[in-house]
Amino acid sequence: MSDYNQSLLTSDVVKAFNQSPDPRLNLLMTTLVKHLHAFAREVDLTPAEWMAGLQFLTKTGQISNEHRAEFILLSDILGLSMMVVSLTQARESKSIEGATEATVEGPFYWPGAPDVALGGNIAEGVVGEPAYYTGHVTDVAGKPLPNALLDLWSGDGDGTYDVQLSATPTMQARGKIRTDEHGRYRFWSIRPTYYPIPSDGPVGELMRATHRPINRPGHIHMMVSAEGHVPVTTHLFVADSPFLDQDAVFGKRDSLVVPFAKHAAGTAPDGTVMDKPYYTTSYDFRLAPLPA
Ligand code: BEZ
Ligand code: FE
Repeated sequence: MSDYNQSLLTSDVVKAFNQSPDPRLNLLMTTLVKHLHAFAREVDLTPAEWMAGLQFLTKTGQISNEHRAEFILLSDILGLSMMVVSLTQARESKSIEGATEATVEGPFYWPGAPDVALGGNIAEGVVGEPAYYTGHVTDVAGKPLPNALLDLWSGDGDGTYDVQLSATPTMQARGKIRTDEHGRYRFWSIRPTYYPIPSDGPVGELMRATHRPINRPGHIHMMVSAEGHVPVTTHLFVADSPFLDQDAVFGKRDSLVVPFAKHAAGTAPDGTVMDKPYYTTSYDFRLAPLPA
């Protein structure tokens, strides 16, 4: 096929995808086709490479299930998830100014975490070093937000999430905490450690083939929300964790890195008597008002 016909092919496919009554769908599909065709032409894509790509996507689908989100993982390692986070922040920049920064959700969110009483332990019996988390949820002016929700999830002290422990996992290191009347939250969990992203599937194969590092720095995840405010999906990163500057999914944000202070066994700030060393950390989340 001549070069002229390659261009004609692209414009024919673009035309075919430009006929729905939904202008946004037309834009997404026609632009996708233009970029896909341009990619194929730029690298002079061979049939074997095209088929390898299709087989990769097939395997990505085949390994996916309720607790294995391989396509989210693929989006994460391609930097597409962080690009969407960043585009959202740029689009909403005026209305979310001063709010806590967002980062990737990742493949391990599991809706329906149990409600945990304020000050309770979301990681009871979970392997890891205990850590006590405190802080506030406020609006962007610093006004406390009572009854704000923190939907929390974390790997264990070995860097493993509950959904990775078995084919029929039960929840651990997850919990929903609500702030008190002064916008304060507090809970126990473990100090998160760095961990490798899942590497036993096609995404892992791709990471190895491209010699990419596969670790994420230690972090705990949260979705923070309050009535009348823009929710944020974010992490807190452990300040002295390895791989802070080599996050496999490009999610680390400096504003989300917090120190975890180590304490000897003794009485913790909430009066709990600890028979082993523990950590404390603190962070205030800020939410922007919903645009009028
Ligand atoms: C996570 O932080 O849970 C995660 C994010 C992206 C890829 C793998 C894991
Ligand atoms: Fe994580």
